Amino acid sequence: MDFKLQYTDSKSRARAGLITTDHGQIETPIFMPVGTQGAVKAVHMPELDNDIHAQIILGNTYHLYLRPGLEILKQAGGLHKFNSWKKPILTDSGGFQVFSLAENRKLTEEGAIFRSHIDGSKHFFTPESVMDIQRVIGADIIMAFDECTPGDADYNYAKKSLDLTERWLDRCIKRFSDTECEYGYKQTLFPIVQGCVYPNLRIRAAENVVSKGADGNAIGGLAVGEPTEKMYEMIEVVNEILPKDKPRYLMGVGTPANILEAIERGVDMFDCIMPTRNGRNGQLFTRNGIMNMRNKKWANDFSSLDENGTSFVDSLYSKAYLRHLFITNEILALQIASIHNLAFYLWLVGEARRHIIEGDFTDWKRSVIEDISKRI
Ligand code: GUN
Repeated sequence: MDFKLQYTDSKSRARAGLITTDHGQIETPIFMPVGTQGAVKAVHMPELDNDIHAQIILGNTYHLYLRPGLEILKQAGGLHKFNSWKKPILTDSGGFQVFSLAENRKLTEEGAIFRSHIDGSKHFFTPESVMDIQRVIGADIIMAFDECTPGDADYNYAKKSLDLTERWLDRCIKRFSDTECEYGYKQTLFPIVQGCVYPNLRIRAAENVVSKGADGNAIGGLAVGEPTEKMYEMIEVVNEILPKDKPRYLMGVGTPANILEAIERGVDMFDCIMPTRNGRNGQLFTRNGIMNMRNKKWANDFSSLDENGTSFVDSLYSKAYLRHLFITNEILALQIASIHNLAFYLWLVGEARRHIIEGDFTDWKRSVIEDISKRI
């Protein structure tokens, strides 16, 4: 994998770059739609490609390991062949999912023992097994196995948790370098910076990650219960240390405003379930604000879904029609809302990139951030 830093904003840390993988290029800043189980919920691959303009999507190690399982993925020839997404894929390591199982998991030095959320069966993930599983899935970018420290952890817990994540990172790197992609293209491993809300832990974590010389680096353990201002502060602390010539991925973030704030602080890659999950719940993000499509006020609003929207659903359907589909529990509602929201997120990062290149990113950000955050 290669990253070229193309433009840096003179008034902020925002950057525009180009990632090249064996499955194609990714223009940054980028948003990556989440396809946990190998599918972006309610959206076809051609829609993701042609209407939403997704350049890379996510998959999840924990979910794909449980179902369809490694045997089927191997037989399929990897996830790209299985789900027919021809462009780059990134897989999260399961660090986040396993840790959100709460009572159903136990951490040891060796790894994480957990019970499946599907049938309660017992499983064991180690840094080594998580590398092996991600080799079988075959994503272009794979993530280190980490403990996602909760946002409200005390200092001692956060430090112990970071110590473990750092030891696990070394084991991930070792296993990754001892193995190779089973499908003839290159995979790359991103380490994850943890450290909770403690600047000195974040600094230590970032310095440790930098010393590994990876092709790209991730910031984890944010948007997990800490105040938003703390999240921004931690991004600033970490990005001060992460190399400028490598992509920076902020995991699991966030609202449209969070994404612009993080871009301004030098983040290049994002993923979040918000556009798809909130979309399925009837929440639509637009340039003019956030709409709840179940609201009665849309019942006889026959104007187009989003007059500024970039996807075909925005001009094809009306607000009144989408409200009707939500109220009557039509599956089409979920499809329209997901396509619209993902297209909006991809439009947002695309515009951010364009304004970074044109040199007026901070002015543009200031001019849109209130509107995109308000409820209408
Ligand atoms: N997704 C959101 N946050 C995290 C994190 O801290 N670690 C991992 N592995 N995935 C995440």
